[in-house]
This record gives sequence, C-alpha cells and structure tokens, in this order.
Amino acid sequence: MKKQWISPSTITGDAATGARYLRRPHINEYFWREVEKGNHILFVAPRRVGKTSIMQDLAENPPSGYSCIYQNIEGVKTRNEFYKRLFELILQCTEKSKTEKTIDLIGRWVRKYSIEEITKSGVKLKSKDVDYEKELRDMIPELVNTDRHTVIFLDEFAEVINKLKKQGQAEDAIDILHTLRELRSDAAFRKFTLVFAGSVGLQFVIKSIDRPKLINDLHPVETGALTANEAAQLVNQLKAIATIQFLEEMIAYLQNKVNHLLPYYIQLMIEETDLVARDLDNANIDKGMIDEAFARVLRKNKNFEDWLTRLKDYQPNHFPFINEILIRCAHNNKITVQEIYNIAIDERYKRRDDYMDFTDELMNDGYIIEEQKHVYRFISPFLQEFWLRKYPIQND
Ligand SMILES: Nc1ncnc2c1ncn2[C@@H]1O[C@H](COP(=O)(O)OP(=O)(O)OP(=O)(O)O)[C@@H](O)[C@H]1O
Ligand SMILES: [Mg+2]
Repeated sequence: MKKQWISPSTITGDAATGARYLRRPHINEYFWREVEKGNHILFVAPRRVGKTSIMQDLAENPPSGYSCIYQNIEGVKTRNEFYKRLFELILQCTEKSKTEKTIDLIGRWVRKYSIEEITKSGVKLKSKDVDYEKELRDMIPELVNTDRHTVIFLDEFAEVINKLKKQGQAEDAIDILHTLRELRSDAAFRKFTLVFAGSVGLQFVIKSIDRPKLINDLHPVETGALTANEAAQLVNQLKAIATIQFLEEMIAYLQNKVNHLLPYYIQLMIEETDLVARDLDNANIDKGMIDEAFARVLRKNKNFEDWLTRLKDYQPNHFPFINEILIRCAHNNKITVQEIYNIAIDERYKRRDDYMDFTDELMNDGYIIEEQKHVYRFISPFLQEFWLRKYPIQND
C-alpha cells in the first residue's frame, strides 16, 4: 500500500503559533529587558515580517510577575471606542491574573462600574454613559497596588489612527495620542506598559498628522528577516513531520532563491514545494522542484496584492509618485537616487523637497533596500516580480 503523504505544517496568512512558530529568543529577551526598564514599545518592522506572531508569543509567555493581553484593535472607529477598548482590556487582563490582590482590585472595580460580566470575549457594564478616558486615568494607577505588571499589546494601532485621520477625525487621533503619551509619562502608571504595532508604519501616519513628538518616547523593537541559521531551523521545523525531505544543500538553495528570509516567504515556498513534490510523487526535494515552486509562488498574485493595496490605502495622495519609483525599480532591477529625483521633479509630482522621505518610507516598510549608497532594489524577488506582473509597461 502506498504511504500516506503528509504535508508540512504551514498555514500561510495568519499569525504563526505553536509548532508553526519559530521563536527568536533574542527578540523576546530584548523586549522584556526594555519593558523592565519602564519603556513602552513600538514594533517597527515592515509588512508581513511577523509582528503579530511575535506579539502573541510575548503575550502568552511572559516572565513571572507580568499579566499580558493581546488584541487586534483594527475595528475601532472612534475615539471613545478606543478608550472603551483599552478600559476593557485592562479589566480582562487583571481579571485573568487571579492573585489575591488582583481579585481584590477586580472586586472593587466590579462594584464601582457595576460590571455584570468579564469574559475573554468582553466586558458587560450596567451603566451606559461611562467617560472611559477619565476612568482609565483613575483605574491604571490602581494597578500599582497589585503584585502584577500589566502589559497591553495593541496590534493594528497605526491603522486606527490612520482611519480616524482619513475620516476627518484627525483631532480625535491626536487626542488619543496625547492621552496615551500622558499616561506613559506619569509615574503613577509605572505598573502598566503599552505595546503598539501596525501593518502600516506608525511613524509615517503620525508624520502625516504632523505630531511626531507624540510617539517619540516609544522604544522601538526591530524585527527583521531571519538569519540563514534561523531560516534553516524554520524549514526543519515546518517539515518535521512531513513526507518531503530536504538535504542541507537544498535548504541553502531555497534560501538563496528567496533571498530576503522572511518567515512568510519561506512558508510560501515550503507549501508550494510540497505541492510540486506531491504532483511528481517524489519526496526528495531537488533544485528543479524548488525552481518550479518559486515560479508558482510568483504566479500567485494574491500573496502579494496586499503590499499594493496597503500602499494605496495609506498614501492615497502620493501613491502615483511612490508607485512610479517601484515600477522603475522593478523594470530596471534597481533605481538610483538620481532617477528618483528625476521622477520627483516632474510636473506631475513636484516633490523636490521631500522625495527622500518617501524613499525612506519604502525602505522602512519593506519594499526596497539600499544595495549600495543611493542605489535601491526590491527587497524580495517575489515583490519585484509581482510589480512587473501588475505593471508590465514602463512609463517614460
Ligand atoms: N516566527 C515565525 N515563525 C513562523 N512563521 C512566521 C513567523 N513570523 C511570521 N510568520 C508567518 O509570516 C506571516 C506573517 O506573520 P504575521 O501576521 O505575524 O506578520 P505581521 O508583521 O503582523 O504582518 P502584517 O504586517 O500583515 O500585520 C504569517 O503567514 C506567519 O505565519
Ligand atoms: Mg500583523
């Protein structure tokens, strides 16, 4: 009887957990050191690098004495809703600690706010008109009396700020940033840490509402691509129980193709290599199979569409300019700062003053890298090919 074919443990798209997740201990250690020092954290990493996966892992595996809660707050649409969400998260996080002191504190809060229920999915209050912003200022200092340090992970925070700005509520966005900044700088709030991330660069959203100072106290934690060793470890981890077999040199060959070693790209390649091998009914991966998998991944636009939509979404006014840089870069395998300048001064854009801001943004957001001084190329062959397929004609 033919042996059953077992596919590798990959689910591309969602944040990775459990056996699908490769922990980089140095990131976790660095993160907790900074929290210990009293810093509030901003995850700065380009799209799809693994911010959500890392935040979830950190929130689930804190050192002793910490209580953490993670939430994707993308759905928040108004200022009040934001404060409400934060208020609820603090309640939920404190509730789950179950130490003597947190049980006391929760008891007090339940009476004070007439709370009917605190569960994993939310909080029910009797009273409907709560001034959440005010209550937050009252409740957070009370955490000092517990034996826990509360850490709230707010994923997609940048999107919320960006959305408010786009809906003409920039003042509300600024108000939120002000309040959070105030909370962070007050000594009474020392048992409380906020951790922010987003799939659009928070710095650039903040710059667009002209308030860079409101986040410059946040401590950046950078998470880049995997090293070759980490990438090999991830390949081995993903295929551990699978039928396909990789010799070491094939892992090196796969890495070389992917070039920029994001876990996401590796997942895509492993998944596709498995399909190719399965079609051929041959579990021993060779170069030809990897080449074929690479070509197939490239053909699947849906994997990369997100990079384009998000760029359009949060840079609607500047998209044509930014996109022209990317199209040129895709067609010529590189773009020089002189070429970027030439596009910038064109009648259509007139961006003589700030074209480097956009170039930096493309680098920070994980589209291009500076290969040598003032020469840029796509960070990943996958993205470059996607741009070529989307824009086969170069505008001269
Ligand atoms: N450490 C890791 N180990 C294994 N897979 C990972 C790891 N980090 C990320 N991935 C995979 O990469 C993809 C992106 O991960 P994740 O959603 O965490 O990134 P992100 O930076 O939050 O993305 P976005 O910018 O879209 O919010 C997912 O498919 C996830 O499974
Ligand atoms: Mg994410």
